[in-house]
Amino acid sequence: MANLPILQFEEKIVETVEQNPVVVIIGETGSGKSTQLSQILHRRGFTKSGIIAVTQPRRVAAVSVARRVAQELSVQLGEEVGYAIRFEDRTSEKTYIKYLTDGVLLRESLSNPELNQYSVIVLDEAHERSLNTDILLGLMKRLIKMRSSNLKVLVTSATLDGEKVSRFFSNCPVLNVPGKLFPVEIFYSTESPKSYIESALKTAIDIHVREPGGDVLIFMTGQDDIEKLVKKLEERVQSLEEGSCMDAIILPLHGSLPPELQVRVFSPPPPNCRRFIVATNIAETSLTVDGVVYVIDSGYVKQRLYNPSTGMHSLDVIQISRVQANQRAGRAGRTCPGKCYRLYPSVAYREEFVDATIPEIQRTSLAGSVLYLKSLDLPDIDILKFDFLDPPSFESLEDALKQLYLIDAIDENGSITAIGRTMAELPLEPSLSRTLLEANEYGCLSQALTVAAMLSAETALLPGRSKSTEKKRKHEPSDLPDGSGWGDHIQLLQIFELWHQTDYDMQWCKDNNLQVRGMKFVRDVRRQLSQIMQKIAKGSLDVQTNGRWKESREDYRKLRKALCVGYGNQLAERMIRHNGYRTVGFKPQLVQVHPSSVLRTDEDGMLPNYVVYHELISTTRPFMRNLCEVEMSWVMPIRKRLEKMNINRLSGGGSGQPEEQIEGEKSSLPKKDDVVRAPDDSQSRIQAARDRFLARKGNK
Ligand code: CDP
Ligand code: MG
Repeated sequence: MANLPILQFEEKIVETVEQNPVVVIIGETGSGKSTQLSQILHRRGFTKSGIIAVTQPRRVAAVSVARRVAQELSVQLGEEVGYAIRFEDRTSEKTYIKYLTDGVLLRESLSNPELNQYSVIVLDEAHERSLNTDILLGLMKRLIKMRSSNLKVLVTSATLDGEKVSRFFSNCPVLNVPGKLFPVEIFYSTESPKSYIESALKTAIDIHVREPGGDVLIFMTGQDDIEKLVKKLEERVQSLEEGSCMDAIILPLHGSLPPELQVRVFSPPPPNCRRFIVATNIAETSLTVDGVVYVIDSGYVKQRLYNPSTGMHSLDVIQISRVQANQRAGRAGRTCPGKCYRLYPSVAYREEFVDATIPEIQRTSLAGSVLYLKSLDLPDIDILKFDFLDPPSFESLEDALKQLYLIDAIDENGSITAIGRTMAELPLEPSLSRTLLEANEYGCLSQALTVAAMLSAETALLPGRSKSTEKKRKHEPSDLPDGSGWGDHIQLLQIFELWHQTDYDMQWCKDNNLQVRGMKFVRDVRRQLSQIMQKIAKGSLDVQTNGRWKESREDYRKLRKALCVGYGNQLAERMIRHNGYRTVGFKPQLVQVHPSSVLRTDEDGMLPNYVVYHELISTTRPFMRNLCEVEMSWVMPIRKRLEKMNINRLSGGGSGQPEEQIEGEKSSLPKKDDVVRAPDDSQSRIQAARDRFLARKGNK
């Protein structure tokens, strides 16, 4: 720790921060930005006037870095040093250094817009360009105007274009912390491998047999592949002749790993033993694993993409960018000269890879963020004019406004409604927040809380419901309920209720093939959501389990109606001729019921006429995932709203202009070209990459 590069810059950093409200710090991954900056500022008195907040885009990083800093300062985690991530707050009165996800900081700013408890706010890992960090950048720009005397903002990043951020903050200073990186020799494959799991396996074993000591970091795309490779590696290592090479430990590293398994990568290996760390791109910049000398780079990453014109999500394995490839290679040269084996040919790197990763704001649904910005209610905030480092596309803003209107979060003029305001306080996506509020009206809040919590589970609870596969659920004999024909939401409710009846017995989960950790998490989330609802409604809600865990048809009907209101435009009607559906909305899509759904045809072989869905995903075909049957009479009001909807008025920013003025041709919504400014080259390249990507997807 003593020789981390950033520590040599302590004086310079402190001096610059003292003299400027905003400072950008660029430093190689592992130089100590996440763990040391907060400690430096604490040592130098910045915690006397408030807490130091450090945001992280990833939950895992927030927890792991907080744990490390607590250790270095020899304090109890959750006391002087703590963390807060969605559904888990481990801070106390004593906390002076607080790691939190960017999403949590955004939510805190709703109840405390000036964030007065903080003396310093560090936006860490800004190069990840997460949606929430991008929004925070805009908010910080406003906040330092209001609190110029007593707030310091630091933006830190490994690879970010520092000049761009500096321009964004009126040319604030940029400090570069040169990390000492040893040279990394790069090897390319001669051709793209047929299976990169096999190719990674072979390369890993070659290294193990031929190369001197040093850990191997392998970048894969996701949990499934990581688990496969870990298993294969274990088999191969065991089959090696005894004594022919050193021992090996194989460790997975990804976001859904239980914390106690995550931390294993930070403890040094036993002597004469090589570690293989098989990781997602979490190890690219957010977590630094010491001791790595060899990197194996698959060249791929899993990325979620939302297409606003179809409302469709996809989880795609895509080629990484050149910036990412170089970051990955850099992991090999932290302690001595290293080697990086790229499982792709050099021509792919040069000609196929894009320069930089597309910021999340340009590839995700913005409904939640638009609602958030609207609820800030700042006189000079118009979502369409909000100061973004890279603005989102016109389509995605339009899509967000439509969605919010259909669930009554904004009115026809685009102003936030009372319902919308309450929704913004809940740490859930808008559809689920809306469902909770509606369910409260119908007296089925308790059930809706359960469904919302089940859907918020981080990991797939049920076997075969993994987000990335569309395998049919195994129909092994199972005692689990089946949703009584109403669909997946009702099934989720019934499962939780059965578990409740066993008094939350872990063995019951195991017997039924349910993830124990996931179910515990659901229980916890449910408890927290009810507390938040209680607070919002000042304690007058019926969120208790109140002994009524056995639902009747009528209860299910109420809940389904609340879901119908909450999902609003996530609605589909059956096509008589095909056994498929067409989504209801501006641009109807033909979609199918996801094979994992419990929704089945009735005795006449018919699927329900109307369903709402939690998510549209496009894998081999467009599918609706997590479905619930709804009634025609509930659909009618949504149809009416759809007909009445006028996107020009919705985007008016709620400025209360007279109707005639807005009804005309002239829209206050900037035209596409206005929104997607492309002043600099990198921006237009990113846009072009995104367009190409969408076009490719469209062709599938
Ligand atoms: O943020 P940045 O990439 O600049 O570096 P950092 O995360 O502050 O890491 C600095 C050092 O602390 C590295 O050598 C990490 O391996 C170590 N570290 C650790 O041992 N355990 C953690 N949970 C986090 C960091
Ligand atoms: Mg960091």
